[in-house]
Amino acid sequence: MAAGAARAYGPGVSHSYPPLNLEVRTPRLTLAGASDELLERLVPTVRAGVADAEPWPFDDPSSFYQDSPDREWRWLRAVWAGRGRVNESFWRLYFVVLLDGEPVGMQDLIGVDFAKYGTVTSFSWLAPGHRGHGLGAEMRAAVLHLAFAGLGAREAESDAFADNRASNKVSRSLGYRPNGTTWDTRRGEAAPIQRWLLTRAAWEQARRTDIELLGVEECLPVLGLA
Ligand SMILES: CC(C)(COP(=O)(O)OP(=O)(O)OC[C@H]1O[C@@H](n2cnc3c(N)ncnc32)[C@H](O)[C@@H]1OP(=O)(O)O)[C@@H](O)C(=O)NCCC(=O)NCCS
Repeated sequence: MAAGAARAYGPGVSHSYPPLNLEVRTPRLTLAGASDELLERLVPTVRAGVADAEPWPFDDPSSFYQDSPDREWRWLRAVWAGRGRVNESFWRLYFVVLLDGEPVGMQDLIGVDFAKYGTVTSFSWLAPGHRGHGLGAEMRAAVLHLAFAGLGAREAESDAFADNRASNKVSRSLGYRPNGTTWDTRRGEAAPIQRWLLTRAAWEQARRTDIELLGVEECLPVLGLA
């Protein structure tokens, strides 16, 4: 998308900060740079609670549990802080997942020492009513396309609590291979984490031709990749 061009889902929405204009479009959904306008539309979902049942999917501290105090404020502050933290060793691109123009969740792409190693990781969630219909796999495929085709990544990592069947299945189905285990805490309790690794070669084997990237070039200097 040319700088200054309007987004397809809303006339006149264009930002002077390039990551907010980024879009990844697949036949089923769009990942759109998480502008404040889009975050606002997700607030009711976060306020209602993204997770309210075991097995708990989020590591500590998390603002996504139904009983997390001040959850929408903490969530907004975390996104704002993360958007503002961009340096050679760390950046995080926040995307709102749009289904027929409606925000239904988030899919983030995180570069850690990306300029040096080309490694990304990701984080995602969907509103409870939208899970289990293939959207999780589709949005991860979308963000991987951005990472490998758009930003030239060498490998993608992912991790999830070992009992998070949906997240671990998304990773396996997209060609990631198990990459060891570690531990983290959730709601104060230690639990095992399954780690995953997707190489560029494995991604190439199943590379999709129906995913469109918009606004990537304008983002490269922002991420120190020009
Ligand atoms: C993780 C998440 C984004 C996955 O999205 P989703 O749309 O539910 O997943 P999909 O429908 O694309 O399913 C992917 C695979 O998981 C399977 N799956 C989905 N939900 C499942 C469940 N509750 N139990 C077991 N398998 C499940 C699907 O059958 C599919 O398997 P397949 O590849 O063999 O067909 C979503 O479930 C979610 O938001 N969960 C809560 C937050 C979370 O866990 N975030 C990740 C933190 S690491």
